[in-house]
Amino acid sequence: MIENNFHSVRPVFDPQTKHVFIETYGCQMNFNDSEVVLSILQGAGYTLCDGLESADLILVNTCSIRDNAEQRIWGRLNHFLQEKKKRPALLVGILGCMAERLKEQLLEHKAVDLVVGPDAYRDLPRLLMLLNDSGKQINTKLSHEETYAEISPVRMDKNGVSAYISIMRGCNNMCTYCVVPYVRGAERSRDPQSILREAREVIANGYREINLLGQNVDSYRWKNPENPEEILTFAQLLEQVALVDPATRIRFATSHPKDMNDDVLHTMARHANICPHIHLPVQSGNDRMLEKMNRKYNRATYLERIQKIREIIPGAGISTDVIAGFCSETEEEHQDTLSLMETVGFDSAFMFQYSMRPNTKAARHFVDDVPLETKTRRLNEIIALQNRKSLESNQREIGKIFEVLIEGPSKRSDEQWVGRTPHNKVCVFTAKDKKTGDFAKVRVLECSSATLICELVNE
Ligand code: 5AD
Ligand code: SF4
Repeated sequence: MIENNFHSVRPVFDPQTKHVFIETYGCQMNFNDSEVVLSILQGAGYTLCDGLESADLILVNTCSIRDNAEQRIWGRLNHFLQEKKKRPALLVGILGCMAERLKEQLLEHKAVDLVVGPDAYRDLPRLLMLLNDSGKQINTKLSHEETYAEISPVRMDKNGVSAYISIMRGCNNMCTYCVVPYVRGAERSRDPQSILREAREVIANGYREINLLGQNVDSYRWKNPENPEEILTFAQLLEQVALVDPATRIRFATSHPKDMNDDVLHTMARHANICPHIHLPVQSGNDRMLEKMNRKYNRATYLERIQKIREIIPGAGISTDVIAGFCSETEEEHQDTLSLMETVGFDSAFMFQYSMRPNTKAARHFVDDVPLETKTRRLNEIIALQNRKSLESNQREIGKIFEVLIEGPSKRSDEQWVGRTPHNKVCVFTAKDKKTGDFAKVRVLECSSATLICELVNE
C-alpha cells in the first residue's frame, strides 16, 4: 500500500543536492501533475534544473491520448539512452498516462529506471531510494481517493501569470474511444477547502489568473463528510473561487455537453472575473456516431446547450474538440460534423483523426475501418472549415475594445506583448509601459484566424 500521508515524504539526507529535470507532454492536467511531482521531490531534497544535461534524474510526464503522443515518447527514450551512455549514473523515470497504460513494458526499455502512474506520485521518494539499492522500480496503482489535495504544486510556468488548479481527477464517462478512464482511474472530486486554500496561495504569489482543471468539471461533487446531505456542485465551487478575489480571472476546462447546466452559465454571468469562455467538446455532429462514442447527448441537445450559452452569456467564446473518422463513420456522417461546425461557428477547435487506443471499448468491439487517407482527408476538411470560421469570428472583433491579461512577450518580437481577452482570444500589441501580468485595454485593428492584432487604448 502507498501511504496516503504527505508527511511520509521526508527529505532524503543526501549530502549532495540532486537535480531533477521534468519534461511534460499532453494536457494541462499533466502540466499541473508535474508541479505536484516537483513539490513532492523538493520535499525529498531534489531541486529543479532547466536542462537535462545537468540532471541526475529525468522525469517524463507522458500522454497516451493518441498513438502519435506515445510515439514521441519512445523517440525521447532513445535520446535519453544516448545521454545515459555518456553519464551512467543518470536516472530516467516515466510518469503519467503512458506509465499507467504500459507498466512493465516500459521498464523493459534500457533507458527506463522508474515507472510511476498518475496516482502514485507520493511514492516517488521511496521508489527513488529503493532504486539506488535494488534497481528498477514501478508503482502504477490507481486510487479511488488520491487528489493530492494538500500538496501545494510548485509552479513551473515561466510567466507567473496563470496557474492551474486541479479540482478533480480521473473520469467516469467511458467515451468508447478514450483511454483516459483506464489510465487516470475513477473520477474523484477534491476537497473544496484545499482548492480555495490553493487559490488564495497563488493569488498571494502574484498570479492573475486561475485555471480550474478536470476531465469533466461539470460532474464535480463534494459531499460534506460531516453532513453527506450537503453537496457542493461545480457551479457553487466556481462561485466560491471567483469570490476569493474579484481581480483574479477564473477559467475552467473541460465542460461536458451532457452535464453542463444552466447554473454554471448563470454563475459565469454573475461574476465579471469568470472568463466568458467554454470549452465544450462535441466530437461529432452525427447522432449515430455520438451514440457509438457513448457521449450521452445528441446533435439537438448539443445545439440547445450552445444556444443557452449564447443566451445567458452573450459574446462568450466557445471552443470544441472534434474527432474525424471514428469507427464506421460514413461520408454523410462526416458531413454532419461539418454542418454542425458551420451552424455553431466555434471560435476555435482542437481537431484530431481517430486513433485506436488498445483496451478501450472501441478497440474491443468496433472495427477501426475508416482508411487512413480518408481520416486525413476528413480531418483536413474539418480544419479548413474551422480556419474559415475562426477567421470570421476574429473579423467580427475588429474595432472592439477588450481587456487583455499580458502573458509575456510575443515569440516574434520582444517589443510586442501576447495576452488573452476574457473570451480567450489571443491578442498581440505593442505597449512600452506594460509588463507581463499587467492588464491592458486594447482595440482590435486586424486579425488572422489565430490572432487579433491590437493597439493599446489609453485609459
Ligand atoms: N483518438 C483521437 N482523438 C481522441 N481524443 C480522445 N481520445 C481520442 C482518440 N482515441 C480527443 C477528444 C478529446 C480530446 C482531449 O482528445 O477530442 O476531447
Ligand atoms: Fe475521455 Fe470522455 Fe472522459 Fe473526456 S469525458 S476524458 S473524452 S472518457
